[in-house]
Amino acid sequence: QELQLNLDQIEKNGFDHFMLKEIYEQPSAITDTYRGRLLVDDGIIRMAGVDDNLERFLNAKRIVIVACGTSWHAGLVAEYIFEDLARIPVEVEYASEFRYRNPIINSDDVVIAISQSGETADTMAAIKLAKEKGAFVFGVCNVVGSSISRETNAGAYTHAGPEIGVASTKAFTTQITVLTLIALKLAKAKGSISNTDFHMHLRELETIPGKIEIALNSNEHIKKIAFKYKDVRNCLYLGRGFNFPVALEGALKLKEISYIHAEGYPAAEMKHGPIALIDEEMPVVVIATRKGHYEKVVSNIQEIKSRQGKIIGIVTEGDTSVRDLADFVIEVPDTIEALTPLVTTIPLQLLSYHIAVMLGKNVDQPRNLAKSVTVE
Ligand code: AGP
Repeated sequence: QELQLNLDQIEKNGFDHFMLKEIYEQPSAITDTYRGRLLVDDGIIRMAGVDDNLERFLNAKRIVIVACGTSWHAGLVAEYIFEDLARIPVEVEYASEFRYRNPIINSDDVVIAISQSGETADTMAAIKLAKEKGAFVFGVCNVVGSSISRETNAGAYTHAGPEIGVASTKAFTTQITVLTLIALKLAKAKGSISNTDFHMHLRELETIPGKIEIALNSNEHIKKIAFKYKDVRNCLYLGRGFNFPVALEGALKLKEISYIHAEGYPAAEMKHGPIALIDEEMPVVVIATRKGHYEKVVSNIQEIKSRQGKIIGIVTEGDTSVRDLADFVIEVPDTIEALTPLVTTIPLQLLSYHIAVMLGKNVDQPRNLAKSVTVE
């Protein structure tokens, strides 16, 4: 028993839970993900799976992304990045819906399947359907040799290392890293991004692990916020643009490990109904970084405040406008808009982790959940 406990501690590298260890591994995981691929000095992105199939990607009329859960959220972030940078139409589908709705799949479609485990049954079924209809399927997986990595025509591994916690953290940020590399590579090949912008994105991507380290320094501050809100019954997460999918992901994290009902929403969509939910019992986490529609997000915050909502703002370090309005703010380092999801997701991971621990939940193995859903 003693030996097992010690082995367990070694495996957790001194952290209380695998999930916390994996949250803190994200700087090194992202570094491992782009090692050998992001060649800043040479000004190139090298990815064999994409290089060997570049024409396929460049001639694609659209990219269809199929995934589940957190991987589906990574796909939504990719939609914003691919369309903004590479100007390729992207559709993101829940694999479980895609496989049953008799979708239109063309032979010049490129399908990207995202799966941490590489064993998710719904995603595997979506891949098989797409291949039957002649589409080229590219996999983004974290487990080498997994079923999905073997089923797809080509792919790129995330190299995040084993993710043990059922709630996905480093898989999410490394998936976004791989997808960003692909989007930038295609944008450069299509000439939809200037050389200057391309190099600026490469250099900024290289700084992300350091910026995540800085975001992790808010851990103690986030613990205090978690203590204040650990007993709420509901929580709203709001974001716009590239950070709308991050709001969805933040809500999923809270749901799956603390069992508190949470919902992610596009910030501007609040006035079409959900704002009726707002009262002094409802904490609202708002991603309000100083990039992309910042002023509009600030006015969304004012709308919530006028209804006595409690506001937790995820802000760019040094922000004062949101600080004056919110009950709490959590600062993240500034970065270019397309890369903000890689830093704004960090405080949301820590917030859900600390709330779940304070509620005495089984953080690494939440009730009713499996790390890989290999059944329908
Ligand atoms: C996310 O925290 C969950 N563990 C779950 O939604 C997961 O992302 C989903 O089941 C997909 O798993 P996969 O990435 O291994 O395919």
